Amino acid sequence: MFKVTFTGKHEGIAELEQELSLLHAARRAGVELTHRCGGHARCGTCRVTVEEGGAHLSEKGAAETRILGILKAGSEERLACQTWAHGDASVRIG
Ligand code: FES
Repeated sequence: MFKVTFTGKHEGIAELEQELSLLHAARRAGVELTHRCGGHARCGTCRVTVEEGGAHLSEKGAAETRILGILKAGSEERLACQTWAHGDASVRIG
């Protein structure tokens, strides 16, 4: 069992038993997280900032890296729909 904590604009905690995307973890926590393209790494609206537990998140893939580059995102920013958590982590929304 591990926890993904959402802070910032919308707050909540997802308690998970297996790897899950941050977008689905947000749903599990009842946290509102905009995802206009439906989780297909095309819009960037699901962007979050990693506050803790970056080592417990999946590596950035090509699609995520491309969108984050277009958005000129910081190194701690991730697309929630493309990032899977497998251990405790905290991310900020907004
Ligand atoms: S929901 Fe569109 S990039 Fe994540």
